[in-house]
Amino acid sequence: MSLNKVDSPAIPNVYVPDNPVWPSLTKTEVLDLKNQIKSLLKEHNAVLVAHYYTDGLLQDLAEETGGCVADSLEMARFGAEQSAETLVVCGVRFMGETSKILNIEKRVLMPDLAATCSLDEGCPADMFTNYCDQFPDHTVVVYANTSAEVKARSDWVVTSGIALPIVKHLAEKGEKILWGPDKHLGRYVQRLTGAEMIFWPGSCVVHEEFRSVALERMRKLHPEAAILVHPESPEQVVDQADVIGSTTALINAVKTMDRKEFIVATDAGIFNKMRQVAPDKILLEAPTMGEGATCQSCARCPWMGMNSLQNLAEVLKSGSNEIHITAELAEKARIPIQRMLDFAKTMK
Ligand code: 13P
Ligand code: SF4
Repeated sequence: MSLNKVDSPAIPNVYVPDNPVWPSLTKTEVLDLKNQIKSLLKEHNAVLVAHYYTDGLLQDLAEETGGCVADSLEMARFGAEQSAETLVVCGVRFMGETSKILNIEKRVLMPDLAATCSLDEGCPADMFTNYCDQFPDHTVVVYANTSAEVKARSDWVVTSGIALPIVKHLAEKGEKILWGPDKHLGRYVQRLTGAEMIFWPGSCVVHEEFRSVALERMRKLHPEAAILVHPESPEQVVDQADVIGSTTALINAVKTMDRKEFIVATDAGIFNKMRQVAPDKILLEAPTMGEGATCQSCARCPWMGMNSLQNLAEVLKSGSNEIHITAELAEKARIPIQRMLDFAKTMK
């Protein structure tokens, strides 16, 4: 079967919720909620694990309370190193599930269990399993943005921070790769490694909206700016980048590059950390609107936006929104995640 032919299993349409808008809080309300959460964390021996795309207030609170704010690779690592009995994952569902899989004995809570991801939603386990079954001679490599069931069907899990070296390693061993679900990241990895790959055609609704023509125009207006792009973005956007990488790699670029101005093509939540590490640099959002078009997410992941101080406090009080994964599923899904973490150790 030709590669083109296998390149298009029909995937379900992804429902994108309206951007959740939390009622804005006064300074006093923020302070009260933060104090409440701090004592609840102590009371329940809990720690916060937050992603860079969540509300800046949550990111700061995670750090103030001895938790972490990180990319998805580091979030997975961090949880496993904690003695806390409860991990509260502020991010999207696959992040909570990964924490649970790696820490089956711990309680893992999330502010909102409905916070999903278009990549996860667009890759149902039964359809993905079917697809994999057609190519038994391929090594199955899945992005971390997937359900526990999809991970359990894979040989390797990767995040954007480690996809390149892992696929390079597999290609050097002569393995053919079935990649899912992010087609843009997959094609980027293929281009750099030369690996023989077939793709599940998923995408991120947030990064998909960056516009290459509008970005070209913006570059002309800011010729000195460095362009930073997350590899979930379309190829024509990636092609214009000075730096392509995970959220951590993009933050490091702002910190270390000898440039004053940066155009950033990823979720706007990342600006919180970027401003902290490089307060004197100028940060510009890459365009999500092209000629006459409007954006749906406008560089703000609607699911990451479901995390707030309000529902974090609620979940700590009630103990609701716990992630449950059967021991059997966790055992299967843990193998490809652990493979990634072990591989990461060899790179240090
Ligand atoms: P990172 O692993 O780079 O943080 O990316 C996670 C993600 O969901 C990007 O959209
Ligand atoms: Fe998923 Fe995209 Fe949101 Fe990341 S930004 S969690 S890939 S929908």
